[in-house]
Amino acid sequence: MAKKLITLKVNGSPHEVAVREYDVLLDVIREHLNLTGTKRGCDLGTCGCCAVLVEGRAKLACLTLALECVGREITTIEGLKSQVIHPLQKTFAEAGGSQCGFCTQGFIMTAKALLDEKPNPSRAEIEEAISGNLCRCTGYIKIVDAIEMAATEMRGS
Ligand code: FES
Ligand code: FES
Repeated sequence: MAKKLITLKVNGSPHEVAVREYDVLLDVIREHLNLTGTKRGCDLGTCGCCAVLVEGRAKLACLTLALECVGREITTIEGLKSQVIHPLQKTFAEAGGSQCGFCTQGFIMTAKALLDEKPNPSRAEIEEAISGNLCRCTGYIKIVDAIEMAATEMRGS
């Protein structure tokens, strides 16, 4: 199938990429843009490893067509770090919310979308927000702790 040249805005910068109609965002950001922080877990929309932000909302990159994202602001885990690491990155490390780390970027991007919309979520709201993200290492308590800690830190700054 012929490829189409499109421009995607990723982490604040425009990128021209040639895509087929069926190419998903996950393949484009990992393989064309070399942003490999976004992980491929199930490729079926069931693990949350591939979560990125599209217009500030958490989206599964394995189920999102690249063509759908033209003209939208895409943020990957690489885009969270500006001068310093994001509070979520810091608190995941401090609380032990990241062990093998494979799922971690998906949790962080999902949590960022939550905290941007709701700066002071309850523990139950955090659990609900991350219910589509799977972790096989931490048992989730430390992940929820990390998100709570980041929320506190972000409200204070
Ligand atoms: Fe997208 Fe699992 S790789 S949800
Ligand atoms: Fe290993 Fe979550 S830290 S799967």
